[in-house]
Amino acid sequence: MSADIRRNSAAVKIFDTTMRDGEQSPGAAMTLDDKVELGRILDQMGVDVIEAGFPAASTGDFEAVRAVGAVLTRSVLCGLSRASAKDIERCAEAIRSAPRGRIHTFISTSPIHRKHKLNMSEEQVLDAITASVTLARNFTDDVEWSAEDATRTERDYLRRTVEAAIRAGATTINIPDTVGYSYPDEYRAIFEDLIANVPGADAAVFSAHCHNDLGLAVANSIAAVQGGARQIECAVNGLGERAGNAALEEIVMALRVRGEALHYHTDIEPAHLMRASQTVSRITGFPVQYNKAIVGKNAFSHESGIHQDGMLKHAQTYEIMRPEDVGQGATSLVMGKLSGRHAFKKKLEELGYALSDNALADAFHRFKDLCDRKRHVFDEDIIALVDDQIAHADAAIQVSRLRVVAGTEGPQTAEIDLIVRGQPVWKTARGTGPVDAIFNAIKEAAPHEATLELYQVQAVTEGTDAQATVSVRLSANGRSASGRAADADTLVASARAYVAALNRLMTLQERMGGANAA
Ligand code: KIV
Ligand code: ZN
Repeated sequence: MSADIRRNSAAVKIFDTTMRDGEQSPGAAMTLDDKVELGRILDQMGVDVIEAGFPAASTGDFEAVRAVGAVLTRSVLCGLSRASAKDIERCAEAIRSAPRGRIHTFISTSPIHRKHKLNMSEEQVLDAITASVTLARNFTDDVEWSAEDATRTERDYLRRTVEAAIRAGATTINIPDTVGYSYPDEYRAIFEDLIANVPGADAAVFSAHCHNDLGLAVANSIAAVQGGARQIECAVNGLGERAGNAALEEIVMALRVRGEALHYHTDIEPAHLMRASQTVSRITGFPVQYNKAIVGKNAFSHESGIHQDGMLKHAQTYEIMRPEDVGQGATSLVMGKLSGRHAFKKKLEELGYALSDNALADAFHRFKDLCDRKRHVFDEDIIALVDDQIAHADAAIQVSRLRVVAGTEGPQTAEIDLIVRGQPVWKTARGTGPVDAIFNAIKEAAPHEATLELYQVQAVTEGTDAQATVSVRLSANGRSASGRAADADTLVASARAYVAALNRLMTLQERMGGANAA
């Protein structure tokens, strides 16, 4: 971004809620380690505020928010709380781990929520707003208040709620489109109205929080900024309840590429966007759609002859931003059998990994093994290999050996050796096909109640010798967890992905006693 655009445009804060609203997507629950890893990336990227969870939900959530706060150097740590003293006090305690902390408290304001969810009158909701914001301000000067389901709230009543929150000391006012119902002109008008008519509005920062049920979350967020909002709440890869939240990477690049026309900018360093996207995808097991704007595999590919011809003549004929701007490296053939440990270490550093000596030795060993099995090794292969290693290190259950009988003759049988909490276990099982046989054998070796919700295979690169990335989602007792693994052998990747999901489900069940907030 040029210095001129920055000077002549207004700053918009980026509030990331991948670890709170994003985590509320079924199957996207994150462990403490996942949150710390993602927190570091978002902090490096320059995200202004990181909402790391809902501390009152469970001890695990509380600890995870604290742990994220402890690694932040630039971003403000934020925790969510309902309009209750217990929630707010717990949140205040959790955010103390960071140099700067924010309490985000919310209550529903729409008639349908007041009547059916809260069973509270207009006056009771107003009293709850005053009490919750006042209490939060006893702990920090940085208090955000949200009007849940704001876009379906009567406009005059919404003004009264915002006024009450500002009077009680809220410094940020969030106007969520909770059910993804609004459209750009309407959403913009709500901000214009509140900012013009609510007493004290000029002292607060107004914030947009859009859900994507009608596919309008990013457009609505930009419209809110045009109406006076100066903070956008969003999530990496658009993760979030139902159809998700506004996608962080799309917001950032829209304001960057069209900064001159829109007159706004953010302080995000976009070169981190791809890494954040891949990390969220690995942690949650949610693959990124190929044609996803900014971070999709095809976002910068040009297939048709006319486009390719134009691109060769001048890249800007069809490209409004460069892949390297967002951290999408051109697929490059990296190294092969003859590459040494030193070159491999350098490549990992280039890709953003800093591994311990032991982890590096393991990764190098797996890299050499892959070179024996695959003709061309690309950056994507190395990323898949290292991500896989990070995800599976120190897990309670590990796959040590797999043998499968498949083909037309049957019966399809799998024989598996697992290490379950340090103990070797060997089992064999049959199934309807090799994958089913593998999953049955794992169930025999590590008995559990979980049911399979999703099984998905994707090739990391092109060609029949490509590594496969397998995603598995399991659920039990109302909780679900995803696991992912990559290997040149799809069946090995399937076994490892299933075990990864099982490990995560066990960790999350230990972590989460309480229910989600919103
Ligand atoms: O969508 C919503 O209304 C929310 C609030 C809790 C901010 O996520
Ligand atoms: Zn939300």
